[in-house]
Amino acid sequence: MSRVGIFGAGWVGLVTGVCFAELGHEVVIRDVVPEKIEALRLGHVPFHEEDVPELLERHAGRLSYTLDVADLADSEFLFVCVDTPPTYSGDADLSAVHAVVDAMPASDRHALVMKSTVPVGTGSAIKRRFAETGKAGFRYVSCPEFLKEGSALADFRRPDRVVVGDDGDWAGDAVARLYEPFAAPLIRTDIASAEMIKLASNAFLATKISFINEIANVCEALGADVVEVARGMGLDARIGPKFLHAGLGYGGSCFTKDVSALKLLAGNSGYHFQLLNAVIEVNELQKRRVVSKLQRHLGALADKRIALLGLAFKPNTDDMRGASSIVLAARLRAEGAEVRAYDPIAEQEARELMPELHYASSAEEALGGADAAVLVTEWPEFVQLDFSRVAATMRGKVVIDGRNALDPQAVRAAGLIYEGVGRR
Ligand code: UGA
Repeated sequence: MSRVGIFGAGWVGLVTGVCFAELGHEVVIRDVVPEKIEALRLGHVPFHEEDVPELLERHAGRLSYTLDVADLADSEFLFVCVDTPPTYSGDADLSAVHAVVDAMPASDRHALVMKSTVPVGTGSAIKRRFAETGKAGFRYVSCPEFLKEGSALADFRRPDRVVVGDDGDWAGDAVARLYEPFAAPLIRTDIASAEMIKLASNAFLATKISFINEIANVCEALGADVVEVARGMGLDARIGPKFLHAGLGYGGSCFTKDVSALKLLAGNSGYHFQLLNAVIEVNELQKRRVVSKLQRHLGALADKRIALLGLAFKPNTDDMRGASSIVLAARLRAEGAEVRAYDPIAEQEARELMPELHYASSAEEALGGADAAVLVTEWPEFVQLDFSRVAATMRGKVVIDGRNALDPQAVRAAGLIYEGVGRR
């Protein structure tokens, strides 16, 4: 069994940590935020992800948490799972990674394993840093992570593939062995290609979403139904059914950040990545289309009461980063509407970003007296709402299904007006 050090106690860091502890490895997780480390020592996970708290408890004997980099000196693998936000030039802000490298003693038995999503070229930059600081013995491996929030454990334990980009030394082989128990297809490649696999995968998924959103918008104009269209397209094995759900646009920290990073990287190298401009623009407009739909039904939105069902960027997470609800709520308020929002898990995170919103403590409360309701996040409890009761409590009749998750017939049978995204 190995000793695994992890920098960063976010989604990727903690899930990587518990999954390696589950395999029997000794794991030390280091973060710079004292409150996070304190909370973890007490068994509290600083974000909402199903089953992670139970696993932390079950494998507590093999997991420890620290603020001190020195506690990771015995770890052969140093997984970097910290934020590497893009700078304006499209390069990653590597200060968190440099802090890690600088704090480690020179060594020829450590491998720095990059899990964070970073621009292509980051591996070379860090290796230069190793050389400049007398740490040329450090090995570097790019091992991008593909887990999704909300199904993070399942994704980590059953990955579609494991990508290991390295310089052909012991470290790449050792990381590949660490992942052997997951029995996933393994891609061994060079570091730059591994970095590009991650960025290109996220950019492609975002493109798929913007594509189906544009098809949805054309369906609205031409009287076709995008759910039927996606079903028919998805059965073509070359297309596949996943990531063809039209809606309010993609949110989250990853797609937004990575599509821009790839566009900027291409730009820095002299290539104009036209397609990604469209992907970004379509996504921005998609969030705003709801406002014109509401205006079509209600006229001017001043003093209209709009219920937002769900705020998180997707269900099963409390993550508000890049959530479509942020733009939507701001636009509605700018039009003079009164916004009443409810999210079963993300309220606290949302309050920090949008303190001015009125937060309801249940879907029923948000819907009470509303002129229109917008389903923003497809939490199961919204899909299961009894729409005859909803109709009785609302002042108006309009239900905009921003995720095509509701049963249009059930909504209409309750006497309400149903409008999805790209639905007939
Ligand atoms: C995404 C990728 O799916 C992961 O593979 C990747 O590891 C991760 O980014 C990352 O780079 O860290 P995540 O952002 O957690 O994962 O969430 P997704 O499930 O991909 O959803 C992203 C957004 O797209 C959500 O707002 C979701 O509602 C939206 N979406 C997704 C659609 O609008 N339509 C779809 O068909 C699928």
